Amino acid sequence: MSRTRKAYLVFVFILVLSLRDECTGARDFKKKSLILLSSSDDTASSDGDSKVVDVTTYGAKGDGVTDDTEAFQAAWTSACEQNSSTLLIPADYNFLVGPLTFSGPCNSNVLFKVDGNVIAPVNPRSWTSKPLNWINFSKLNGVTINGNGSFDGQGAAWWKISQLEDTDSSENGSKLPSMRPTALRFYGSFDVSVQGITIQNSPQFHLKFDGCTFVTVVNVTISSPENSPNTDGIHVQNSEEIEIYHSSIACGDDCVSIQTGSSAIRVHDINCGPGHGISIGGLGKGGTKACVSNVSVYDSNIHDTLNGLRIKTWQGGIGQVKSVSFSNIQVSNVRLPIDIDQFYCDKTVCSNQSSGVYISDVTYQKITGTYVKTPVYLACSDDVPCTDLKFQKIELQPVATQEKSPFCWNSYGDQQSDVECLQPGRPPHDPAQTLSPEDRC
Ligand SMILES: *[C@@H]1O[C@H](CO)[C@@H](O)[C@H](O)[C@H]1NC(C)=O
Ligand SMILES: *[C@@H]1O[C@H](CO)[C@@H](O)[C@H](O)[C@H]1NC(C)=O
Ligand SMILES: *[C@@H]1O[C@H](CO)[C@@H](O)[C@H](O)[C@H]1NC(C)=O
Ligand SMILES: *[C@@H]1O[C@H](CO)[C@@H](O)[C@H](O)[C@H]1NC(C)=O
Ligand SMILES: *[C@@H]1O[C@H](CO)[C@@H](O)[C@H](O)[C@H]1NC(C)=O
Ligand SMILES: *[C@@H]1O[C@H](CO)[C@@H](O)[C@H](O)[C@H]1NC(C)=O
Ligand SMILES: *[C@@H]1O[C@H](CO)[C@@H](O)[C@H](O)[C@H]1NC(C)=O
Repeated sequence: MSRTRKAYLVFVFILVLSLRDECTGARDFKKKSLILLSSSDDTASSDGDSKVVDVTTYGAKGDGVTDDTEAFQAAWTSACEQNSSTLLIPADYNFLVGPLTFSGPCNSNVLFKVDGNVIAPVNPRSWTSKPLNWINFSKLNGVTINGNGSFDGQGAAWWKISQLEDTDSSENGSKLPSMRPTALRFYGSFDVSVQGITIQNSPQFHLKFDGCTFVTVVNVTISSPENSPNTDGIHVQNSEEIEIYHSSIACGDDCVSIQTGSSAIRVHDINCGPGHGISIGGLGKGGTKACVSNVSVYDSNIHDTLNGLRIKTWQGGIGQVKSVSFSNIQVSNVRLPIDIDQFYCDKTVCSNQSSGVYISDVTYQKITGTYVKTPVYLACSDDVPCTDLKFQKIELQPVATQEKSPFCWNSYGDQQSDVECLQPGRPPHDPAQTLSPEDRC
């Protein structure tokens, strides 16, 4: 690398450092860090200035039997100290690792090149601590995972004991962990990209983002059995500017789950199924405030799932879900393709409350294909009706011969579609007028 080139890089890097503390400069930072990323990529290929930290040189065996946790942790410490580094998990190995934390801040962006397989311990009892996550990425600024390798959570034994987690009971003397871990979780991170890898058989969620900004997930495969409990594919909460695309997700719960505190979320070119579809919520549990806005889901295929496009909230919550659009979605063999459930309940009966999360400005456009039970089921709160809903070109045929009617309760908006069940105009007690400022987002 030439001196001028190096000087330029250092200049950009200093620019990045000077911007990273200003929250308001987040967008600028993104732009600058992209410059840095592409520059360091260049130099990595031209003169190998980016240091490659191979886990096998830190003692990882990759024989599927030896515990490689410490080797991974040592490799991380070294990678994080470099000015530019690639942490390599090479192909043709199976690295057995227990709970791991890759925590920042680091000296620069780190690339995880995952070509081999990373596997979790098969027996839940060998997890001596009770980690909420198998692999915990925390407080990183600019991190990329790519490769064609995989993370396998080996969740089968966890799924069998899942009933015990609620009671935290013990069996055969030794106590079982009270919580099943999420496979890969990013916390409090900025500028994250996950590309190409496979994540499978997680004990619980597969990939979770919490408190992250600027996240891209592309070309990822997520896979666990249809009957594995709570194995959400991608779970997003308190995160903004997230793009999830060109990925295939098959699991035992929501393919993509969008939780409170999330906005500017784009989900597209997804192949989802089996599973529970693409979901916003459950929101407002235990009277909490939930805010979700600016979500678009488009150009995707949902097949063999319980739900297709769902928004679910608990009675008694407050807050808002607004500016959501679902467009160009092909469904096939989906039990309930279009669903709003504001009476979400995990018991047989949950009592109705006078408050509810206000759902407005939700568009369903070009939703076509086949359903198993009901094409459209919108159950909006009695006290806080849904408003500004739009149906455009919804064409859903039953899988069986018998057609079922759509159901809409307290749901107001416009319909230009074969499916007609929205009430036109606005409700008598319009939440847009009546909601107090504290109940809004
Ligand atoms: C990182 O870059 C700085 C400034 O060029 C240099 O002083 C330092 O030695 C480098 N650190 C490593 C680990 O390469
Ligand atoms: C993840 O790592 C961070 C940083 O070390 C730590 O504070 C946090 O407790 C970890 N979280 C979990 C759930 O493992
Ligand atoms: C996965 O990536 C590695 C390294 O980039 C490459 O050698 C290998 O051929 C790839 N395997 C497949 C199946 O694409
Ligand atoms: C507990 O012990 C019983 C009887 O020995 C055995 O069948 C069962 O598999 C054990 N359960 C676990 C989770 O190890
Ligand atoms: C995703 O995969 C496609 C091929 O299916 C490839 O053309 C594209 O470059 C990949 N994108 C990324 C960011 O890896
Ligand atoms: C919605 O999110 C997109 C990115 O997904 C962003 O470009 C746009 O500015 C956001 N719109 C609003 C009104 O926040
Ligand atoms: C809650 O309200 C809905 C809609 O009015 C009604 O169908 C349901 O029976 C009520 N549930 C309870 C537990 O009262």
